[in-house]
Amino acid sequence: MSQAARPAGPANPANPANPANPASPAKSADLVDAVKVAVLGCGTVGGEVVRLLTNSASDLRSRVGARLELVGVAVKDLDEPLPLDGLDRSLLTEDAVGLAGRADVVVELMGPIEPARSAILAAFAAGASVVTANKALLASHGPELYEAARAAGVDLYFEAAVGGAIPILRPIRESLAGDTVTRILGIVNGTTNYVLDRMTGEGLELADAVRQAQELGYAEADPTADVDGYDAASKAAILASLAFHTRISADDVYREGIGQVTADDVAAAAATDHVIKLLAIVERRGAGSPPEGVIARVHPALVPKSHPLASVRGAFNAIYVEAAAAGELMFYGRGAGGRPTASAVVGDLVTVARHKVSGTLGPGESAYLGLPALPVSQALTRFQIRLVVKDQPGVLAAVSRVIAGEGVSIEAVRQTPGAHGRGLADLTVVTHQATEGALQKTVAALAGLEVVAEVAGALRVEGE
Ligand code: HSE
Repeated sequence: MSQAARPAGPANPANPANPANPASPAKSADLVDAVKVAVLGCGTVGGEVVRLLTNSASDLRSRVGARLELVGVAVKDLDEPLPLDGLDRSLLTEDAVGLAGRADVVVELMGPIEPARSAILAAFAAGASVVTANKALLASHGPELYEAARAAGVDLYFEAAVGGAIPILRPIRESLAGDTVTRILGIVNGTTNYVLDRMTGEGLELADAVRQAQELGYAEADPTADVDGYDAASKAAILASLAFHTRISADDVYREGIGQVTADDVAAAAATDHVIKLLAIVERRGAGSPPEGVIARVHPALVPKSHPLASVRGAFNAIYVEAAAAGELMFYGRGAGGRPTASAVVGDLVTVARHKVSGTLGPGESAYLGLPALPVSQALTRFQIRLVVKDQPGVLAAVSRVIAGEGVSIEAVRQTPGAHGRGLADLTVVTHQATEGALQKTVAALAGLEVVAEVAGALRVEGE
């Protein structure tokens, strides 16, 4: 800070956990003239952050109680175009780690792992708070970063890492801190929601819908992180960690992308008043239903058209939170894009800058429950299984016997004349709730039945 509200270095006067300065009280806010801000990464989001900082400087100063002074912007190439006309080119540097060591607040927007991790650790070591949107880093190295922030007595904020502009992490961390979150269902990847929406609306096959998403700039040239569910799995890990006060990493998240979803699956979903969504589902299995633990999973699922998540269209995101006392809450908005994501980043920046001014800190990591991550086979779900069967006496009885043999109960069966040729019929079976493990065994057993010509699809049904 231009006029220090705290001693130089990592010591935070308001943080009793920092032994370097245990007793020093917070200094008066009017001593702070400016909070030095470094922005690491100047792509779509970083450029918008720089623009917001510059164009809204006067409002932000009033909200923070001190000027936000941009002290540097780390870029990949010093010759790249400036994000803002008139920005002083001498602020640009290719040395992100060095820049991170000379600010009060570091905004990390480089992603994914290195040098982002080193730059964040350098920022903490120098006593700077950090704002990041880096879901992959948080989902893989979260505990290391939380520990380093705690040891340095600084803030680590990352609202933009899940749901872009949607305020979801602070509501979980702060607003719901008095409640018990039991489950979260999220549409947290805009690209795949756009793709599935086009498949639903226009009957497109996946590859054509992905191509449309690429043409519109939603999907990357290499869409793997979105289509295969890696991006959603990182976000699921972050949501689960915060909601269940437990360390959950991306490796703990069961992940299935949308690569296998066909136009036929989408049409069959519509025929039973469902839509297919890529869901991130994190849930706490309580002490009443042992084993106790957290299950985190990402996969396509059938969602009834009557559920609020079914109406999330295009590239929008929504996060549906179920809590013991609050009941159901839904958070909806733009989950990606430069300006929406920058909104969340600058919101965090204002918050941590206020903390710098007042010599306080926001909440750190809460992992006191330390619940185990349970395998997906323990998840309770329902399946809609589409079979092509021989149209002959005894088929329904044989199918029912196999399903009952796995301890699974049938909720509904629908038979339609087969479009597959003479003597075949389409059979759609919807199960009651059972464990994923039992349902997978059921599908495998049905595939082995002599009367079953093909298992045309098996999708989980969620949100009922
Ligand atoms: N690629 C992501 C999405 C946005 O499509 O939602 C960044 O997490």
